[in-house]
Amino acid sequence: MQLPRLVDAALDRLVVPGYSRLGYTVRRTGWSTLPSGCLSGRTILVTGAGGGLGAATVRGLVALGARVEMVVRNPERGEETAAAVRADHPGAAVDVAVCDVSSLADVRRYAAEVRDREAAVHGLVHNAGVMPPERTETAEGHETALATHVLGPFLLTRELRPVLRAGASPIAPSRVVFVSSGGMYTAALHIDDPEFRQGTYSGGAAYARTKRMQVVLAELLADDLAGDGTVVHSMHPGWADTPGVASSMPGFHRVTGPLLRTEAQGADTVVWLQAAAEPGHSTGVFWHDRAPRPTHYLPRGGETPQARAALWTLCVDATGAGA
Ligand SMILES: NC(=O)c1ccc[n+]([C@@H]2O[C@H](COP(=O)([O-])OP(=O)(O)OC[C@H]3O[C@@H](n4cnc5c(N)ncnc54)[C@H](OP(=O)(O)O)[C@@H]3O)[C@@H](O)[C@H]2O)c1
Repeated sequence: MQLPRLVDAALDRLVVPGYSRLGYTVRRTGWSTLPSGCLSGRTILVTGAGGGLGAATVRGLVALGARVEMVVRNPERGEETAAAVRADHPGAAVDVAVCDVSSLADVRRYAAEVRDREAAVHGLVHNAGVMPPERTETAEGHETALATHVLGPFLLTRELRPVLRAGASPIAPSRVVFVSSGGMYTAALHIDDPEFRQGTYSGGAAYARTKRMQVVLAELLADDLAGDGTVVHSMHPGWADTPGVASSMPGFHRVTGPLLRTEAQGADTVVWLQAAAEPGHSTGVFWHDRAPRPTHYLPRGGETPQARAALWTLCVDATGAGA
């Protein structure tokens, strides 16, 4: 039975019930089961797949028959997780590839390797995430949250464009998903100081700003890739109990502990976006718990066309990935 829209919207606006496991539990009563094997024949790359929501996404995808490449920066952790996935899903096609998505050079190297070895890629999940406690820069001089959440994913998407295009068909588009955060609602599109050089740095603020950028970037890439048959979506997982939440926000983790979603519950919409029919027919949409959600709650909260264009220019200029 479909959850009444008013109840669903109220869960969303009240935040705690909607983002916690309560929201998931109430909403899932209206969901249908994804057909078994519906992802067979599809190759999907998941970044930050060594643990947390990324590993849960891998499990959800292989359970539906996908061949999954876990893109990790720590190969030992990746191989350990892959072995656990294979043990739970005998016959699962899971490989581990190493790439630090915050390094533009490494993203370029990895994407070239994928283009050389794969005729087609059908899905890409930008899941890798960080909340740096203090301002740090990558070797290429970019603030770490910006590099991890925005610049690296932009470049990886652009560099994989030919194989994503090759994976798309008129009835089955290739699908790119950005794992953003409900925290993005607290931030406007902050484009005048993207590297967070001004003011007092806060990891939470850098996180929220770059998670907002991911949502806008998904919309921009959706337009950019529309002619390729590749759809691009963003989503937020609610609040899930992961190693990242425990280490980056110990106070929040302690207080919300029993309310937090499991990793599988947090990853559910990511898997659904790769597998279900509805998100294959749309592009540039922001989702939570298998439903489109507003990207702003305040009237006139949307970005100006100039700010959106500036985000695109920032990504193109920083990565050299061509306009
Ligand atoms: N859990 C939640 O409640 C929640 C809520 C909103 C949004 N999210 C988003 O969901 C995603 C997953 O979060 P999580 O909670 O599962 O966090 P997590 O447990 O910290 O997992 C994040 C993963 O990203 C990887 N990673 C970080 N930087 C990377 C890089 N430069 N290159 C490659 N991999 C990198 C980490 O690898 P290492 O193992 O090497 O550290 C780790 O495996 C993030 O984008 C996060 O912002 C989570």
